[in-house]
Amino acid sequence: MTDNQESLNAQDKTPSGSATLPLRPPCERLSGHKSSVCSRSYFVVVMVFFHVYIINVIALLFYVHYSSGQEDASRSRDAPGSNHQRPESRRPPSKAEFLRDVSLTRVEGIRVGHVQRLSLVPGKVHEMRTLSLKPLLFEIPEFLSDDECRVVMQLAQLKGLMESQLMVQEGQEELAKELNLSPEEIFNLLDINQDGQLQLHEILTHSRVRDGIWLTPENLREIYAGLKADKDGNGLLSLEEFRVLSSDAFQRFLVQRGVKRSQLVRNSRHTWLYQGKGAHQVLQDIKERVTRLTRLPSTLVDLSEPLQVVRYEEGGHYHAHHDSGPVYPETACTHTRMAANTSTPFETSCRYITVLFYLNSVEGGGETAFPVADNRTYDEVSLIQNDVDLLDTRRNCDKSNLRVKPTKGTAVFWYNYLSDGRGWVGEQDEYALHGGCVVTHGTKWVANKWINIDPDYQRQARFQQLVSQQPEEMMMMASV
Ligand SMILES: *[C@@H]1O[C@H](CO)[C@@H](O)[C@H](O)[C@H]1NC(C)=O
Ligand SMILES: *[C@@H]1O[C@H](CO)[C@@H](O)[C@H](O)[C@H]1NC(C)=O
Repeated sequence: MTDNQESLNAQDKTPSGSATLPLRPPCERLSGHKSSVCSRSYFVVVMVFFHVYIINVIALLFYVHYSSGQEDASRSRDAPGSNHQRPESRRPPSKAEFLRDVSLTRVEGIRVGHVQRLSLVPGKVHEMRTLSLKPLLFEIPEFLSDDECRVVMQLAQLKGLMESQLMVQEGQEELAKELNLSPEEIFNLLDINQDGQLQLHEILTHSRVRDGIWLTPENLREIYAGLKADKDGNGLLSLEEFRVLSSDAFQRFLVQRGVKRSQLVRNSRHTWLYQGKGAHQVLQDIKERVTRLTRLPSTLVDLSEPLQVVRYEEGGHYHAHHDSGPVYPETACTHTRMAANTSTPFETSCRYITVLFYLNSVEGGGETAFPVADNRTYDEVSLIQNDVDLLDTRRNCDKSNLRVKPTKGTAVFWYNYLSDGRGWVGEQDEYALHGGCVVTHGTKWVANKWINIDPDYQRQARFQQLVSQQPEEMMMMASV
């Protein structure tokens, strides 16, 4: 590299040297008299070519060497899970990097409507239909038997379900205080188009960050009136108008006025069912089937979150959201936090795959909506317009690109992350946005199996090594 730069510098110098020969092609006199300037630049050009050529050949050799090494590793289908059973092949717990000897299988979608036949349980063939490619989404009817659905619902009831979202919201103000933001700074953060005014949708976009009260444009108009926030009544907030409001004024106003459950981000009850050794056979069977379906190493599935069972009463919903957070260098995954750098300030769920099971057929509503599935482009800002909020599953499910009707025993599954192109987890897939439409008749029961994988391979490997060194009980705790 430095070699190359030096020769480039040398090349830079020659034209300034030949600047004393105006309007003359630099090597015109090469054939006749020997010009030292021309022969020197000719020499430099040849040498540059030569160097670049050599470097290319070396790079190619390296590439061939390493990529064939990687293919060998993936062909052996060796997972961090299989290391698990052969501790002697592991390196000592040191700061040394783990060798990436795994390639995660990703089920191929082929095209929307494509059907693949699967053998997941003896004596039965399942059909898996591709519903979308962005996100990579599949539907498998009769994935669970009626009996299995019944057992899962009964076990959940036995364990008891709790509210998925609590009414009182704290913390929004704390975060602003922690960051020590001035009203001007918050205003600028919200003002997406930087026109010095806050439109309704600019405020709505940012009220969705946490599980709070779900603001609608009507709520905002009501709040503006109640707090006399919009003095000139033009439906926009200027910096002066914004300055007199505290950072959680909106939420506080609504809490004081009284909030119904239907105004929360989610309105459901849920519980968690452990699926490891000693769990009910049906729960272990389901985990086993999910492993076969996703073709991922069983250790990854074993170390994932327990089964989540959710019940929506009539009127229940869950506005559109992502099951996983985006992963930045300063973000750690919740499931691998014990292996994360303690200085990592943020934590998020890293759920590579969501498998969603419908435990009953819902009489009315309750579809799973994917607002931007297979949309040509994805533009976060255009999700929320002043008039239509595509994230709102109480109002705008009919405008979603894709809706799945809840049918007893059917499973749908999708990838919340793209591939990194080298057999591991890559970027978050923004198209995996989804929500639960409002249940208009009856009750809706679903279960979620998430498969947790850290996009940071080293962290995932370190986590698995730590877990493998711990007694069983610790493993259970780590996975909860
Ligand atoms: C943890 O973070 C610190 C500071 O960013 C860094 O110096 C250190 O190398 C990190 N350790 C690991 C194990 O990543
Ligand atoms: C969906 O695609 C269309 C066409 O490219 C685009 O205009 C629209 O903004 C997209 N919707 C979202 C929410 O990104």
